[in-house]
Amino acid sequence: MTPRPWILAAALTLALAVAVAAVVVGHPVGRAPVDHPSRVAALTPPMGWNSWNRFGCAVSADLVEQSADALVSLGLKARGYDYVVIDDCWMASHRDARTGRLVPDPVKFPRGIADVARYVHARGLKLGIYEDAGTRTCAGFPGSLGHEQLDARTFAEWGVDYLKYDNCNHGTSVSTRQYVARYTAMRDALDATGRPILFAICEWGVHDPWTWAPALAQTWRTTHDIADSYASMLANFRANVQLSAFAGPGGWNDPDMLEIGNGGMTPTEERTEFTLWAAMAAPLIIGTDLRSIGHDSAAIYANPEVVSIDQDPLGRQAVAIADGGRPAGSAGLWVLSKTLSDGGRAVVLFNSTAVSETISTTTEQLGLPAAAEYSVKDLWSGSVSMTSGTLSAVVAPHAAQLYRIAGPAAATFG
Ligand code: GLA
Repeated sequence: MTPRPWILAAALTLALAVAVAAVVVGHPVGRAPVDHPSRVAALTPPMGWNSWNRFGCAVSADLVEQSADALVSLGLKARGYDYVVIDDCWMASHRDARTGRLVPDPVKFPRGIADVARYVHARGLKLGIYEDAGTRTCAGFPGSLGHEQLDARTFAEWGVDYLKYDNCNHGTSVSTRQYVARYTAMRDALDATGRPILFAICEWGVHDPWTWAPALAQTWRTTHDIADSYASMLANFRANVQLSAFAGPGGWNDPDMLEIGNGGMTPTEERTEFTLWAAMAAPLIIGTDLRSIGHDSAAIYANPEVVSIDQDPLGRQAVAIADGGRPAGSAGLWVLSKTLSDGGRAVVLFNSTAVSETISTTTEQLGLPAAAEYSVKDLWSGSVSMTSGTLSAVVAPHAAQLYRIAGPAAATFG
């Protein structure tokens, strides 16, 4: 396929943008090159919906299409949620005996995946699908190991825009080198299709993927599966928050999909999950039933100012700040600081403990240049205040305050 001139122009622009961003952020590892027309640049963290957390194996064309409609009608597409991802269990249990191709489950997807892709694309959204870098998926359906070229071609022909690539049933492929080889085989196969397909590596943080996946993929899972509970969410946060040096435009740490709306967390804990994920520049992948979501949970996903912290074009992941002589997060109290493109900061005061606590920081600790006053906006309440340098709040158990401090380049918040 001869690349069309606009693709080359777009790729060059993106390559330049990523190179500049990489210098700014100071990445220790290479980004996935975007000079190939099949690469998705993912200059900000991907956003969308995925079936797994809420529906497990109960996927179908109807569910996917209704979820796409809900993204539009709830105003979430307008906020940037544009990937609709079908997770495991979309396949029949065997490949086509004649062609060797993967076969969509004829009951769940009676008109095939290409038909669902057309439906999703017609609404201005993109389609994601799931496969596995082993012999079988985690739920036991045919895996892509040894079939990478044909499967990537099949996905491209169907109009798939995003591939979540899992790690079950990898047999004797256990070393880092073998992991890299399995994931590189699919990366190369996706490249060979010529279709831009976002590559989301899911190997659960086993072989420190943040050290090698940035050269291959746009996102890489850093943890085991999240569950619908505060304890699970906290564990994934604690693992992922340490990895800020590895995230940046083009490649993101992925602490797994959001559980907001599924009922296992209190309203406070749901807001905390969204706050922490946004501060960590994590992919914002909704994991609930959008057809019946409650008003409060929908409002969390839709908060434009919190989404804009996640999507800030500088692409920094928040760093946890040490409290005086004590390590960051000691005693369960966290101060997170995310440098923003306007020179300001997003600041999280997170109390992971079971009792109310006062958490404080200063503009000096946050690395802001000296000034007489700073304008501070609470992004959940909307209130604006001024400070001469101290930021302090009594934070309820399991709650996270999220503030935006205007940078020198920005006007004060009105
Ligand atoms: C693994 C992944 C999950 C999900 C399931 C599907 O556990 O980590 O996110 O995709 O497989 O079987």
